[in-house]
Amino acid sequence: MIVIAIDGPAGAGKSTIAKALAKKLNLRYLDTGAMYRAVTFAALTRKLDPSDEFEVAKLASQCVMLINDDSISIDGVDATQAIRGPEVTRAVSVVATNSLVRTELRGRQRRWVSEQGGGVVEGRDIGSVVFPDATLKVYLTASPLVRAKRRVAQSGGDVELIAAEIAERDQRDSSRSDSPLMKTSDSVTVDTSDIPVNEVVEHIEQLVVAKKRNIRESK
Ligand code: DC
Repeated sequence: MIVIAIDGPAGAGKSTIAKALAKKLNLRYLDTGAMYRAVTFAALTRKLDPSDEFEVAKLASQCVMLINDDSISIDGVDATQAIRGPEVTRAVSVVATNSLVRTELRGRQRRWVSEQGGGVVEGRDIGSVVFPDATLKVYLTASPLVRAKRRVAQSGGDVELIAAEIAERDQRDSSRSDSPLMKTSDSVTVDTSDIPVNEVVEHIEQLVVAKKRNIRESK
């Protein structure tokens, strides 16, 4: 089973690159951030306090979440648009620090990939925790300014404000005790600041081909 782990901070280009790569490799694509966002959306909709560990964990374990390449629904409600809104974006990193939620979502991520027979999976802890034996682990990064500018181009706003929000979220994602954002020693780092998307995708595709060849030859 081929599993490509794409980790890195917000705005590094993970979604665009992971989607394009999945298409090229004929694999399914899983955005694990969307799963944390969907739980956050459902918690806010139900007027739960996002930091209420047990209530939010109960919701995460009981909800029905349906994930497709371009959409996500939770308990029958299409959350594809709403999970990108400012309320969810502000609250999601609190939900992502909840260890009970993380355990539940990790289980769902592993089941999803096994049902699909592999995939390109993007997140923060994919290569480090969810799929430590992934075929290839890529750590995507870009300079803070480039990342903030990309977010502004996507959803508008003030570059400085967005840069501050991104820095705060990076800090929370990297310093939480359960599966923080980190680079593993066996991952390949790709800085996307000055490289066009198609070149990054081609580069990663070549890495996958080389990995597959190594695996075949070592058998
Ligand atoms: O990639 P994103 O911005 O949609 O992620 C939303 C939040 O979820 C962000 O705070 C990081 C967190 N996250 C996580 O902790 N682990 C993952 N595997 C994916 C996302």
